[in-house]
Amino acid sequence: MTRRAALQALAGLAASPVVAPRRTFGAGMELLAPPPAPSRRPEPGLLEVALDARPAEVAVAERRASLWTYGGTFPGPLVRAQEGDTVRLRFRNRLPEATNLHYHGLHIPPTGRADNIWLRIEPGQTFDYEFTIPEGEGGTYWYHPHLHGTISRQLWRGMAGPLVVESPVDAIPELAAADDRVVVLKDLALVDGWPAPHEKRDWHMGKEGDLVLVNGALSPRLTARSGTVRLRLINASNARYFRLGSDDGRPLHLITTDGHFLKEPVALDEILLSPAQRADLLVPLAGERPLALMHLPYDRRVTRLPLRPTPLLTLIPKPGAKPGPLPGRLLEPPPLRIADASVRRRVSMAMFHIDGKPFNPARLDTLAHLGDLEHWEIVNYGTMDHNFHLHTWYFQVAAHNGVPAPYPRWQDTVNLKPGDRVELLVPMRSYPGRTVYHCHISEHGDKGMMAVIDVRG
Ligand code: C2O
Ligand code: CU
Repeated sequence: MTRRAALQALAGLAASPVVAPRRTFGAGMELLAPPPAPSRRPEPGLLEVALDARPAEVAVAERRASLWTYGGTFPGPLVRAQEGDTVRLRFRNRLPEATNLHYHGLHIPPTGRADNIWLRIEPGQTFDYEFTIPEGEGGTYWYHPHLHGTISRQLWRGMAGPLVVESPVDAIPELAAADDRVVVLKDLALVDGWPAPHEKRDWHMGKEGDLVLVNGALSPRLTARSGTVRLRLINASNARYFRLGSDDGRPLHLITTDGHFLKEPVALDEILLSPAQRADLLVPLAGERPLALMHLPYDRRVTRLPLRPTPLLTLIPKPGAKPGPLPGRLLEPPPLRIADASVRRRVSMAMFHIDGKPFNPARLDTLAHLGDLEHWEIVNYGTMDHNFHLHTWYFQVAAHNGVPAPYPRWQDTVNLKPGDRVELLVPMRSYPGRTVYHCHISEHGDKGMMAVIDVRG
């Protein structure tokens, strides 16, 4: 089979492995890791981090770009914490407009100095965030601005960075032996070195760019340091969906969804990451054959030029290294049952509205009670895909269009195609507080596809 036929077969969802053709791609730059955020540990269990938001000129796709950044880099620096850590993050706003920080997916309070999206940090101001990451919350997360109405523009201009919380599960031999990499997927379009401004139709379609960047580079290669690579994939794009598969039909082994471990690795031919979603994959590399992670066409029902399958990241095996065995057991999400839910809700999504209403921060849309297990049914009445994200209280997808989830998994974001209906089980646990749920196509959120939830103790 020719490479083209192989790619077409893959694009057509064919699962059958094909003979690997000789490859010419993968000649891009070596994948660069996001630099570590300046931090120190003045005492055990305390992590101090400094992060500033500022305009900076950075190298993107081997050219210069004037972006808005965290710490002057694109993507932003890696914040690496441990379960149980108290994080003190000194945030300084050196942008010409107000902003704030959202710790996407992290299970910390939505109030006070923690994941409080109601804060407004003015230009020149410094704010000290402080929160404690509970045990059991290790995983791959990210941070981005969350000041309503400005999120899309700030995110588009470059403001997003990875946040990794180390987990004891990372220490099991099969994971400890893997080459652990953070991979931020984020697209951008530049005009004369500046992010292309939003146009009218972008608010509807969600803004995408022709530069599909992997840690800021185009089609980089990753030279493996061991026989198995662990990719911590983060979709930090405004609106781009990443449907991903290998170039030759080799399976991808999914070990986490939105930062949370599965019971055991699940072999998949492809995965779909809608904006804000994360997945950790284990990729065993046998022999000398590189493996290209392909960006595959996905139709989210907006008019776009068709995408050809493109190598996003090419993994080059370490000479002589053998892929390690895959782990058996990871961390089993507790099975939740709809029958145990005490509250049932319905949430509808359609363009710029949730439940038929645009966002009003002063209105309370959902009042919930701490300790309840809730059953949420989300329906997409729109004509394009929307994805649903709930802050603080992440959930399990019990069923999608009536089909029970094949295995329990935690998520904080779930995609819905037009007409889709998903059923979520949401434990309202740990923290009371007022925050939001919304479509994570950031333009849609900014234009009103967002609603307020208050969980009371
Ligand atoms: Cu990633 Cu409400 O956000
Ligand atoms: Cu949407």
